[in-house]
Amino acid sequence: MGKARFYDRFIFILIAATAFLVSGIASAETDEGNEEQRGASWHEISKDHSMQILYIKSEGFVATLFWKNITGEEHAAMLTDDQFANGMVLIDLPFEFLLFDLNVTRVAVTKEGTIRSEDPSNKWAIAPLNANVGMTCTNISYLFHENSLFVQWNNFRFNHDKFGKHEFSFQVRLGVRGEIDFVYNAVPYNLTHLRENCDFCLADKFGVTYPRHEVFEVAPYNEIYELGFPMDFKNYEVKKGIVIRFFTADWCMGQKNCYDCTKTEFELSLNKTARCSWCPAIQKCSSTRDSLRNVWMEKKCDIHHVNESESCKNFNQDFLWFDCYPFVGAHLAISILVFVFCVLFKDKIIKVCYTTPSKRLRECIQSKIQNNNDQEDGHCNTNPMRPIETDV
Ligand SMILES: *[C@@H]1O[C@H](CO)[C@@H](O)[C@H](O)[C@H]1NC(C)=O
Ligand SMILES: *[C@@H]1O[C@H](CO)[C@@H](O)[C@H](O)[C@H]1NC(C)=O
Ligand SMILES: *[C@@H]1O[C@H](CO)[C@@H](O)[C@H](O)[C@H]1NC(C)=O
Ligand SMILES: *[C@@H]1O[C@H](CO)[C@@H](O)[C@H](O)[C@H]1NC(C)=O
Ligand SMILES: *[C@@H]1O[C@H](CO)[C@@H](O)[C@H](O)[C@H]1NC(C)=O
Ligand SMILES: *[C@@H]1O[C@H](CO)[C@@H](O)[C@H](O)[C@H]1NC(C)=O
Repeated sequence: MGKARFYDRFIFILIAATAFLVSGIASAETDEGNEEQRGASWHEISKDHSMQILYIKSEGFVATLFWKNITGEEHAAMLTDDQFANGMVLIDLPFEFLLFDLNVTRVAVTKEGTIRSEDPSNKWAIAPLNANVGMTCTNISYLFHENSLFVQWNNFRFNHDKFGKHEFSFQVRLGVRGEIDFVYNAVPYNLTHLRENCDFCLADKFGVTYPRHEVFEVAPYNEIYELGFPMDFKNYEVKKGIVIRFFTADWCMGQKNCYDCTKTEFELSLNKTARCSWCPAIQKCSSTRDSLRNVWMEKKCDIHHVNESESCKNFNQDFLWFDCYPFVGAHLAISILVFVFCVLFKDKIIKVCYTTPSKRLRECIQSKIQNNNDQEDGHCNTNPMRPIETDV
């Protein structure tokens, strides 16, 4: 039985992977709206190429493979009402969940059908449903299994006369490689309809949202880019048996310097990778088709950019400074100080070296410079000889 299940799963993964790759070609070639060619399942990449999804409409078969029977697991935990504070329960992950540049080790689970950051200033959300606060009641269970967190909303109901009778059940898996899966097991009514007839029940969008605040040293100074994959109920039907998988796509923007940037690759299309590019004018790393693409063109980064690490030092002073400062910089500074010091205090060198702290050395050099400006007859020579206690 166990073997048969494993075999099924393996076959499926092969099928899914192939479908993913094949559709990957199609969607890579038709970047803009590919709505007309949607069939039962499709692969799609967000317009900023930051996240891709695999939307699988199955007659139950795929969904049963992805659905984890949490109620049958002895290590599963059920959240009780007294665990909720501010409408959420915090769960510590036994692994690091990488969401773009975030290293998430703790998540907040809500009764509204969302997983969020515990920190309200971090606005990312993973939402298989995204009900408005206070509009739902549900039982939530979770389970850690093979480097994944499964969260399941059971008996999920809307507090609404007309829609409250039936219960939803759905699940999210967060995987250690940053993948996110939604599986819908029970969807008792049409959510597009619900959204239209009870707009205070459900928020506009569900899916994954990650508004990233990008700061520039030049105009536009501040921008907020959506890196996730928000969905609406019209174009992405949610019903029993639907599986939606999310994966990070281009992730050049996370690289903070020329060197790291040009060492990073992204998948351009099937079996084809390209290197991220660094633009010295805006000090940013980009795939040139991500959220930065407009600024990229405005600042002429398409003409002046670097995609080989050897070229970084020509363009980016930060790179040299960054890499060498701790060694060359510090060494040079100390050598110069010692040299200056020894020239200044040839005969008193022994005493000075053993009695003067570096602060005194700095003072001495400063006053020497001053003396050179004001008066020829310096008293710097006597300074190092003064006992340390009398120093002010
Ligand atoms: C889940 O597991 C429990 C206990 O093993 C079992 O009773 C139940 O039928 C299972 N549910 C499904 C849908 O397989
Ligand atoms: C993620 O955070 C944990 C704990 O803060 C840390 O130990 C780990 O090294 C971090 N991992 C990455 C990839 O940044
Ligand atoms: C949640 O589970 C408990 C215990 O199994 C049950 O008594 C309760 O009715 C459930 N809540 C909902 C909203 O279904
Ligand atoms: C769901 O409701 C919307 C709007 O009311 C409607 O256009 C759509 O056809 C319905 N879908 C199904 C599967 O009934
Ligand atoms: C990918 O490209 C490599 C080298 O160009 C080639 O050897 C390999 O067969 C290709 N793989 C696929 C799946 O096309
Ligand atoms: C680097 O940039 C040049 C010029 O824009 C381009 O022709 C080349 O393909 C890029 N190399 C990689 C590995 O992306």
